[in-house]
Amino acid sequence: MQNFKKQAGVAAADLVQNGMGVGLGTGSTVFFALERLAERTKNEGLKFFGVSTSFSTTLICRNFGIELKDSSAVRHLDIAIDGTDEIDPNLNLIKGRGAAHLLEKIVASLADKFIVVADTSKQVKNLGEKVAVPLEILPAALGLAANKVEKAGGEFEVRIAGTCKDGPVISDSGNIIADAKFGIIKDPKTLSHLLDEIPGIVGHGLFVGLAKEAFIAGANGVSHI
Ligand code: A5P
Repeated sequence: MQNFKKQAGVAAADLVQNGMGVGLGTGSTVFFALERLAERTKNEGLKFFGVSTSFSTTLICRNFGIELKDSSAVRHLDIAIDGTDEIDPNLNLIKGRGAAHLLEKIVASLADKFIVVADTSKQVKNLGEKVAVPLEILPAALGLAANKVEKAGGEFEVRIAGTCKDGPVISDSGNIIADAKFGIIKDPKTLSHLLDEIPGIVGHGLFVGLAKEAFIAGANGVSHI
C-alpha cells in the first residue's frame, strides 16, 4: 500500500508548475507528494510556495526545505493536494483521521483545483461505509454538539488520544476532536449542511463537491479520475 500511496502522491506532485501556490494536505500519502516536490525543486529548479494544513506537514516541509506561506495570508491557490479516508464515485470525501480536516478544508477551498491522492483501499460506494465523520468542536460547544449529532441519528464519541496523552485529541487550533458515526451516508450534501449549522462545530470531515480530480493507485496502476 505504501507503494501505491507513493504512486498517487508523485502523480499529483508532477502537476505542480513554476510559480504556483500549492495547498499541502496531511498524511502518509501527501508525504510522498512532498518528497517529490522537494526532489523536483532540487533537480529541476521548480519554484512554488506551499500552504500547510497541519503542524505535521509544516515539520515535514521544513525538513524538505519547502517554502511555506500561512493560510491567513493567502487568498488563492492554484492547486491543493490531499489524501482522504474515503472517496465515493462522485469524489465526495470523508477526511480527518489525523484531525487536520478543518484546515484541510480551508486550504482545499482556496484552490482552483483540489486533487485527491489515495490508494484503492479508500474507494467506497457510499461514504460512511468504513469510517465515522470527524468533527472539530469548540470546547464550549461539546455538549451541544453531542446532543445535536445524536438527534440527527449519529453516534457521537469524543476521540481519545490514547497512550501519548490522557483525554481528548486536541486539534492544531486548540479544539476538541470527536467522531460521529452515521452508518451509510446516502445524502452527504444534506448531512454536510446539517453539521455546518450546529453552532460550535467549527469543522467536519465531509468534503462534498470540493474535489475536482483524484489519483487513485492500486494493483492496476494509477487511475486519474
Ligand atoms: C488528516 O486529518 C486526514 O484528513 C488525512 O488527509 C487522511 O486521513 C489521509 O491520510 P493518509 O494519506 O495517511 O491515509
